[in-house]
Amino acid sequence: MFGEGPRDARVVLVGEQPGDKEDVAGEPFVGPAGQLLDRALADSGIERSATYVTNIVKHFKWTPRGKRRIHQKPNATEVNACWPWLEAEVNAIGPDIVVCLGATAAQGILGRQFRVTQQRGEILESSHGWRVTATVHPSAILRADDREQQYEAFVRDLRAVAALLAGQAA
Ligand code: URA
Repeated sequence: MFGEGPRDARVVLVGEQPGDKEDVAGEPFVGPAGQLLDRALADSGIERSATYVTNIVKHFKWTPRGKRRIHQKPNATEVNACWPWLEAEVNAIGPDIVVCLGATAAQGILGRQFRVTQQRGEILESSHGWRVTATVHPSAILRADDREQQYEAFVRDLRAVAALLAGQAA
């Protein structure tokens, strides 16, 4: 599944892989994680419609449990296999910043040594010449015990992105 958003988006948001709802809909971030992402973008002053939303892995990896399809984390081989598509998407758009949502996207773009817990919110340059920052994955917030605190920290990271965009008039 490809990403979705305007050709001239100033922000590219990169998740892990489509979930069950996304796989059915054929659109990224339309399930519960997507709803949380929409709310956080609105709270941080970024319009989702002005962002391009995609995933580092293009297919939904799952295992059956009864009638349900249970998410399975993609491995490095799957990230590497999908890399040419992400690279082409980002280079075609040429955003001001790429925002990695969670460790799979962050490590795929910034390297295996990258730690979201220690380096979230930092504005970095990737080896591909992209300006990149990383934050947590919205699904991790939905699973957290301290959901409200995690949500506030997520919005703080996104506000830094909004400030960067404001500092660089379109
Ligand atoms: N989680 C992701 O990483 N991507 C989606 O598109 C949906 C859920």
